[in-house]
Amino acid sequence: MTLPLKVNIVEVGPRDGLQNEAEFIPTDKKIELINSLNQTGLKRMEAASFVHPLYVPQMKDARAVLQGIEHSPDVQYMALVPNAKGYERALENGVKAVSLVVGASDSFNRNNVKMSREESLRNFEAVVKDARKNQIFIRYNIATSFWCPFEGRVEEKAVLEMVQEIDSQGVDEIVICDTIGRANPKQTAELFSQITAIGPRAAITAHLHDTYGFALANILAALKEGVTSFDTSIGGLGGCPFAPGAAGNAATEDVVFMLHEMGIETGIDIDALKQTLEIVKPLTKRELTGRLHKVQACAAAAN
Ligand code: COA
Ligand code: ZN
Repeated sequence: MTLPLKVNIVEVGPRDGLQNEAEFIPTDKKIELINSLNQTGLKRMEAASFVHPLYVPQMKDARAVLQGIEHSPDVQYMALVPNAKGYERALENGVKAVSLVVGASDSFNRNNVKMSREESLRNFEAVVKDARKNQIFIRYNIATSFWCPFEGRVEEKAVLEMVQEIDSQGVDEIVICDTIGRANPKQTAELFSQITAIGPRAAITAHLHDTYGFALANILAALKEGVTSFDTSIGGLGGCPFAPGAAGNAATEDVVFMLHEMGIETGIDIDALKQTLEIVKPLTKRELTGRLHKVQACAAAAN
């Protein structure tokens, strides 16, 4: 099996993770979480989103969060933007890396951002041009790349065409998202093998939710197809408020642990992640889905 020696992990907990928490998490807690993640060796994270506060109230303090965190020179802080207005807000707040999102499935996109898929793609063309002019890093998410909560399985052809179109615009990174965590390892391998065959100029990242517990298997499948960048969420937090049934992301600590066990470097310190987990636990009433902290609880009990 040919595997990479090094993998890049993108922490999406502060955005994808927290956006699905119903109870408002105080701004200082979000800041504490990000500051703690700064100490783990992670180099990239989605820190907030500039979406409508009515639709996602949890993200209404994006500005205060970005102003309050310690900006480590070693970390790239990204903000999700759903439309041109979100992009404007991100720039007003000094954001240097934006995370655009369009659903491969039209129904999901309408539910998520109230525009057809084509409208979103067209609106973002101008955003991408402006971002390139201003040397803003452009991460472009293709949500529901495998399955849609409303339409079912998404055709690979649709995703491949989007990858080509978005890549031709000159973006820095394209993120292939299993938004509802419904893909299996075979489907994951097949899609990434075809994406790799296109040879995009943009870096490719996989964003795989863990609804059926397949996320680690899907990550391995993607790794074998040459993917070396993965979105994960501390504690396995997360889900999309506009994708019914979606569970959290692959847990950062589990993914990092698995990769290290396989001899793959991430630059992330597991012990530092464990400290961050202590900050995460009180932020949610839900039991964290990550395994690592449970295994340790179990080992501690046996001693
Ligand atoms: N942030 C804040 N306000 C926004 C905004 C944004 N990104 N985009 C639009 N608005 C404001 C407009 O200025 C307008 O304000 P006004 O009534 O004071 O004039 C109002 O919202 C309506 O604008 P419109 O363009 O019609 O927005 P919409 O109601 O169709 O909502 C989104 C579109 C994208 C803003 C909304 O659907 C949204 O925030 N979705 C959240 C998506 C999300 O977070 N998904 C999970 C992550 S993938
Ligand atoms: Zn997600």
